[in-house]
Amino acid sequence: MSERKKVTLPMLFEKVTNGQPITMLTCYDYPTAHFQEEAGVDMVLVGDSLGMTMLGYESTLPVTMEDMIRHAQAVRRGTPNAWLIGDMPYMSYQPSVEAAIRNAGRFMAEAACDAVKLEGGAEMADRMAGIVAAGIPTMGHLGLTPQSVSALGGFRVQGKGALQAKKIMDDAKALEEAGAFAILLEMVPDRVCRLITERAKDCFIISLGSGPQAHGQLLIYHDMFGLYPRFKPRMAKVYADAGQVILNGLKQYVQEVTHRSFPQPENWFGMKDEEYEELLQLLGRDTG
Ligand code: KIV
Repeated sequence: MSERKKVTLPMLFEKVTNGQPITMLTCYDYPTAHFQEEAGVDMVLVGDSLGMTMLGYESTLPVTMEDMIRHAQAVRRGTPNAWLIGDMPYMSYQPSVEAAIRNAGRFMAEAACDAVKLEGGAEMADRMAGIVAAGIPTMGHLGLTPQSVSALGGFRVQGKGALQAKKIMDDAKALEEAGAFAILLEMVPDRVCRLITERAKDCFIISLGSGPQAHGQLLIYHDMFGLYPRFKPRMAKVYADAGQVILNGLKQYVQEVTHRSFPQPENWFGMKDEEYEELLQLLGRDTG
C-alpha cells in the first residue's frame, strides 16, 4: 500500500488554484478501487452507470439506493484515501428535498462517502441546496444526464445549439449558487465547457467528453479498459484492452480443460503416500 494522504475538499481546490488538473474515474468494486488508490486517482465516483456496466441493465434507471450503497461500501474499502462520491440513483432525490437529504445522508453514514452527485440543472437547485445545507458536499451533473436519456432523445452531445448551450450555462450558475462544490459536464461542446469553467468561482468543473479546458477529467473505467461489451463511446480513450485479454484467457481456459492440459501438478494439492495408504485402509480397500 502506498503512503497516500486522504484527499480533502481544500486539497482539490488547491489543485484548481495551482492550475493542476483533477483526476476522476468511476469505480464500482473493491479490487478496482484498490488499483485506483494505488494509481493516486483524486476523485472516485461510484456512478449509477453500474446499472449498465456491472448489472447489465439497458439504462441506469433500475438502479436502487441499496445497489449504490453496497457498491460504494466495497469501493470505500478499496480506496480509503480518494475523495469518494456516491451517485444518487433515479428517484432517490427527484421526489422531494427531504428524500434527497435522507438518501444523500445514507451515502455518508453507510458507505463513508465524502460527497454525493445528482443530475439536473435549475430544477434540481433546491435539492442541491437542501443536501448542501445538511453539510454534505454535492456535485452537479449537466449536459448528457443519463437518468433523463429518454427526454434528451438518446445518448448524444448536449448544447450544440446556442439556445441549449445558454440553458446549460444558466443551469451551471444555478447549481453553483445552490452550493455545488463541482459540476460534471458530460458530452457538452468544448467551447461551452470552457466558458463555464472560466466563469466558475466557488466550484470546479469536471469534463467527461467536454474538452480539455475544465479543471479536471473523468472517464468511465469500463470504457478505459474495454470492459463494456455493448458499446464504446467515441470520447472514451481505451488505455488497455483488458476485455480482450480476459476473453483470450477465458477461451484458453475452455480449450485447456477440454483437452486436459489444465490442471498441471502446480495447480493441485497432493497427499503423502503413507497418509493415502492409511486412508485406503480406513476405507477398507486394498492399496494394490
Ligand atoms: O453514473 C455515472 O457513472 C455517471 C457518469 C456518466 C458521469 O454519472
